[in-house]
Amino acid sequence: MKNENKMLRGKNIVVMGVANKRSIAWAIAKALSTAGAKLAFTYQDERFKDKVKRLVDKEMPGSLLLPCNVAEDGELDNLAARLKDEWGVVHSLVHSLAYAKKEELDGLYADTSREGFLLAHNISAYSLVAAAQRLYPLMSEGGTIITLTFQGSQRVVPNYNVMGVAKASLEASVRYLASDLGPQKIRVNAISAGPIKTLSAKGVKDFNRLLEGVAERTPLRSLATADDVAATALFLASDLSRAITGTVLYADCGYHIMAT
Ligand SMILES: NC(=O)c1ccc[n+]([C@@H]2O[C@H](COP(=O)([O-])OP(=O)(O)OC[C@H]3O[C@@H](n4cnc5c(N)ncnc54)[C@H](O)[C@@H]3O)[C@@H](O)[C@H]2O)c1
Repeated sequence: MKNENKMLRGKNIVVMGVANKRSIAWAIAKALSTAGAKLAFTYQDERFKDKVKRLVDKEMPGSLLLPCNVAEDGELDNLAARLKDEWGVVHSLVHSLAYAKKEELDGLYADTSREGFLLAHNISAYSLVAAAQRLYPLMSEGGTIITLTFQGSQRVVPNYNVMGVAKASLEASVRYLASDLGPQKIRVNAISAGPIKTLSAKGVKDFNRLLEGVAERTPLRSLATADDVAATALFLASDLSRAITGTVLYADCGYHIMAT
């Protein structure tokens, strides 16, 4: 993405959720880095470490790379401690992660298990609160928190099931966090991305069929790409969006306005 004016120069930004180069978080990281931000990447666990390290070393050398499984309070505590040591001040957090068991993303929502419900909400919704509560004390110069959501929070999308319910919780969290943290000049927003082929998306049954249908029906007659979503993230991380908080911005080529 072209961005010559380096509007994020001097900003320290934490990016959570890169699994590979198709990750929405990776597209966002590239846009933020091009705009001059210094980045810290987190990875889920050892399974992801090498791939993320290779990507970061090649394309954004000098960035921090830190482990953080969001299911573990200790790892979130360590993340905040390391960021305090390394940077002192954090300006933005990009929270671009979610998880539900594959079997919950297929068939009836009515069949969701208790364990599957709790897991999806823990990783996909509570993790925003858990990360924000540790990082806002480091946002001493004000800041921005950005998370990723999907329209399945508002309307029924076949097979999205428990993830749609977790995204509704995530969006409500955005509003409560925005209210709590606004007095410290910390803005909290979500981007509702249109469907994009990524590792996580593959977990939703018939995802490819969903993609085809959406592309035909969006007002712009196209699908939003990860780079399109990244452009919205750049806007939300920058001062251009200084009066926007507690909002869900749709980067979906207008799909959410259509009745069918
Ligand atoms: N791909 C889409 O169609 C789409 C649309 C709208 C919103 N989103 C959202 O965008 C975000 C990023 O997803 P993506 O599509 O780029 O897929 P992705 O698979 O590339 O990224 C998901 C990330 O979640 C991380 N993650 C899962 N469990 C974790 C844990 N316990 N601790 C730490 N990290 C964990 C994975 O490591 C991975 O990096 C998610 O919130 C997703 O729901 C995706």
